[in-house]
Amino acid sequence: MSDSLDLAAFPADFTWGTATSAYQIEGAAAEDGRSPSIWDTFSHTPGKVDNDDHGDVACDHYHRWPEDIALMKRLGTDAYRMSIAWPRVMPAGDGPVNAPGLDFYDRLVDALLTAGITPNITLYHWDLPQALQDRGGWTVRDTAEHLAAYASVVAERLGDRVTRWATLNEPLCSAWIGHLEGRMAPGLTDLTAAVQASYHLLLAHGLATRAIRAAVPGAQVGLVTNHSTVEAASTRPEDIAAATRMDGHINRWWLDPVYGRGFPADLRELYGVELPERPGDLDTIAAPLDWHGLNYYFPATVTDDPRGPVPYAREIRVPDVPRTGMDWQIDADGLEALLLRLTDDYGVRELYVTENGSAFPDTVSPEGTVHDPDRARYLEQHVSACARAVRKGAPLAGYYAWSLLDNFEWAYGYDKRFGLVHVDYETQTRTLKTSGRRYADIIRAHRQMRP
Ligand code: FCB
Repeated sequence: MSDSLDLAAFPADFTWGTATSAYQIEGAAAEDGRSPSIWDTFSHTPGKVDNDDHGDVACDHYHRWPEDIALMKRLGTDAYRMSIAWPRVMPAGDGPVNAPGLDFYDRLVDALLTAGITPNITLYHWDLPQALQDRGGWTVRDTAEHLAAYASVVAERLGDRVTRWATLNEPLCSAWIGHLEGRMAPGLTDLTAAVQASYHLLLAHGLATRAIRAAVPGAQVGLVTNHSTVEAASTRPEDIAAATRMDGHINRWWLDPVYGRGFPADLRELYGVELPERPGDLDTIAAPLDWHGLNYYFPATVTDDPRGPVPYAREIRVPDVPRTGMDWQIDADGLEALLLRLTDDYGVRELYVTENGSAFPDTVSPEGTVHDPDRARYLEQHVSACARAVRKGAPLAGYYAWSLLDNFEWAYGYDKRFGLVHVDYETQTRTLKTSGRRYADIIRAHRQMRP
């Protein structure tokens, strides 16, 4: 099966990895000095998360990490994208460092390296210390400064062993879903707060980039953003204009400032919110990056929605197309298109797919196996899309499957399973799925092509 994948397109040193994030897998929410994050607060607020699930235990990775590293070895991955929990390292958000929290990541990094797996560390994957939320969270500038201080602490501790760093994961979700749509922590529905948050998140990215580089000579610093291709639902001029607005809202707003173009004027006008700009900020935000991480899941098709929320464009449900268990449309061409857009329009010099994957309702057979051909097929289709993008010139250096494990899927709780490895949350038993075996085959097949 993997013969049809054009693995020869990938460079010999291509990185194959899996990805997770701290709050989604670690559990141990109150252990060793960890303070609550906005996701603890949000998930413990009744009605916010399906089934009122929360991350108190999750995959218990905080205690079971040796087993999880062994799973990575079984998959044969080169690298592991993980995040650090800010509330473990700096429980108040600023100020004193919590040594046991930092020690956990120190041990984890050592064990990964011993297993021959390169860590790729994301500093902020949505788990803002609640103490900082209480002081305004991402709507205030101080939070950006605090992220940079926290980044320095982590980079100083781990930088002798870790070279690949990402500042933020998907700032779009933090700002738009967390502050405008209210479906993620901190659960606000306030356009002004959302636009301020978007600004401070990108500023935090720039400040943290500088802080990591100061702490770790030779650090490879990147940003992870999520994007969708956007199509108009019809050829009506109103729908075409709506598609331009949506593209701005989910793509250009996040990429233009990072690549030195400033915040898009059409969006600034549309939002009508004054940016909390200070001289020099745009240069900070646009600090040249070593790499860019693209998270890709689905495309968007939109129609004009003048009475709806910003950006007055509504996603429609395209009929008769394949979908995942999230009801997300499956469209691997979108991944190819976005990789080429980052290459051609933004001049990105090194690209990674930092997340890509699918949720499907899995069942465990009486023999204890999990056969998930749909997920395996999604993986193959998207790896093929990567190969096509490479053939067309995208400087793609790696692919990280989301996710190593089934985990806490934010507002969807534990029902949505993205893992290559099944997790039984009652017993914490891990079972490699068919998709995990397929990924291991792909990696092995590519490795055999290496000189
Ligand atoms: C992304 C998140 C990741 C995971 C996947 C399914 O938006 O970065 O944590 O939940 O979606």
